[in-house]
Amino acid sequence: MKYTAKAPANIALIKYWGKSNESLRLPTNTSISINLSGVFTITSVDFNSALTSDEVLLNEKTAPEKDRQRIIEFLDLVRCQAHINTHAKVVSSNNFPAGTGMASSASGFAALALAASKSAGLNLSEKYLSILARVGSGSACRSIPDGFVEWKAGRTNSSSYAHSLFPSDYWNISIVTAIINKEIKKISSSEGHQLVNTSPLFKARLQYLPKHIKDIKHALSERNYSQVGSLTEAECLNMHAIMLTSKPSLIYWLPDTLELMHSIINWRSEGLETYFTIDAGPNVHILCQNSNVPKLIRKLKNLSNVKQVIVSCPSPGATLI
Ligand code: PMV
Repeated sequence: MKYTAKAPANIALIKYWGKSNESLRLPTNTSISINLSGVFTITSVDFNSALTSDEVLLNEKTAPEKDRQRIIEFLDLVRCQAHINTHAKVVSSNNFPAGTGMASSASGFAALALAASKSAGLNLSEKYLSILARVGSGSACRSIPDGFVEWKAGRTNSSSYAHSLFPSDYWNISIVTAIINKEIKKISSSEGHQLVNTSPLFKARLQYLPKHIKDIKHALSERNYSQVGSLTEAECLNMHAIMLTSKPSLIYWLPDTLELMHSIINWRSEGLETYFTIDAGPNVHILCQNSNVPKLIRKLKNLSNVKQVIVSCPSPGATLI
């Protein structure tokens, strides 16, 4: 039977960068994220005995070979769990540019995990759906539960999964995504994760994280916007310090990214209290209080290097539609 699922991308306040187990995609550290209402993937999967091979359509085109292989490996995992050997048709589309550091693999594998497991006849709990999505792409496990999400690192396949810290309606804040470049990045996050141990700063990051995680959870529990914002921005810079000092170095920022980071810091000093965070790409996610969104959008529209602006609020996780 065909099932269709919708899953949000998520933005990490505490980043996942580095794996302790490559094939299971177990992370070196616990991470925390918010699901984004405005940035999502919709995926249908139909395991159908009439098919003679797997068919994968991404954004209305036959998937590039590398993506196709990764999706077929994931379907194999689902077939193995469901004890079936039927082929599947997968049709998936994003409402945002993929491969640009906007968590397309997170929303993509979360939607795929839900639609594929249902179509294969599995009825997975949120925990096991999150584990399945994680094996597709680490951060995808955080797009399964609702709202504000924690992915406990865990040390084994069954102990590394995401759960909701607070539901999506817990705190009505905005995350404004400024797209400044839609080109696919040259080094994927999967490749980037493998370089963490080449950074002389990585050990220091692992030592600093536990307190930072505790502090941000506390700030979230108090809905302390300034604390959440400043801890999020500091954490983004900490992760990028690892990327910048890896061998070879990963410089995901473009000049326009840096210009926007400086603008955000300047706007803040003028009273527009916003904070940036950036994943493995040039695009910038900006935390903003709802009352300031129109002002922020006006400012972003005045910058010629901002190509598109997407406004999100915290969103539920993956759902069937
Ligand atoms: O799930 P992956 O392999 O795309 O890794 C995501 C890594 C970051 O987006 C940079 C950080 C994060 O926690 O989302």
